[in-house]
Amino acid sequence: MTEASPRRITAPDIRARKRGDPIVALTSYHAHTASLLDQYVDVILVGDSLGMVMHGLETTVPVTLDMMILQGRAVMRGSKRALVVVDMPFGSYEESREQAFRNSARVLKETHCGAIKLEGGVRMADSIRFLVERGVPVMAHIGMTPQSINTLGSFKTQGRDEAEWGKFLDDAKAVADAGAFALVIEAVVEPLARRITETIAIPTIGIGASPACDGQILVLEDMLGLSQRVPKFVKRYGELAGHIEAAVKSYAEDVRARKFPGPENVYPAKGKA
Ligand code: KIV
Repeated sequence: MTEASPRRITAPDIRARKRGDPIVALTSYHAHTASLLDQYVDVILVGDSLGMVMHGLETTVPVTLDMMILQGRAVMRGSKRALVVVDMPFGSYEESREQAFRNSARVLKETHCGAIKLEGGVRMADSIRFLVERGVPVMAHIGMTPQSINTLGSFKTQGRDEAEWGKFLDDAKAVADAGAFALVIEAVVEPLARRITETIAIPTIGIGASPACDGQILVLEDMLGLSQRVPKFVKRYGELAGHIEAAVKSYAEDVRARKFPGPENVYPAKGKA
């Protein structure tokens, strides 16, 4: 008898967590990290941050739909339980609601993930409604939206000036009214994140947006200590870069000293164990 697979968490399950237990989310781009995360997190985001983290790009702007689909499939293969959300990359959804549907349908069909994420508030509300009415669960993303780096000018904290709050509140209300099941809020001041979370009926998931949110997300490599520079809002839960460097250094020394492979790593001929 085979062990039954756990049921995957769905977008409606996450939607129902408003003001409930905090939602735990992390990014992953690979089958092996996805399988490590799977039993501990509710949501695995295949973020377009993979452009910077995996490919060394300076921004997420050059990331393509094919890159997202390839890693989305890997994360789905590595996980069984968490809701997998795949980011729509820059240029794959902003042109029209039809373009957004065509490309997000491709993502759902080719990765089998449970939802997509896209950046934008009021300006994306019409497309979000169009997608949700046609069977595509949407996680929205407002605040500091990295795909807009070329118009924003820098990755800076949003909402420091209270006069700007109205725009972000309008964005949050627009995506919630349009049917998004959750909202990522990135790099905004604490009182604004609190106000948004208290105002809208869908869960907010913060990254640099304070504990006021209904859940939290971080980029995995940032919290593991694999990224060289991290924003103030990241807490490092590990220092893996140092461990990897030490392991690689030992391996290189062993190979050079002919200490590796040792007898225990060698296949003997038949009968000579
Ligand atoms: O691409 C990403 O990793 C993200 C998170 C930072 C929320 O969008």
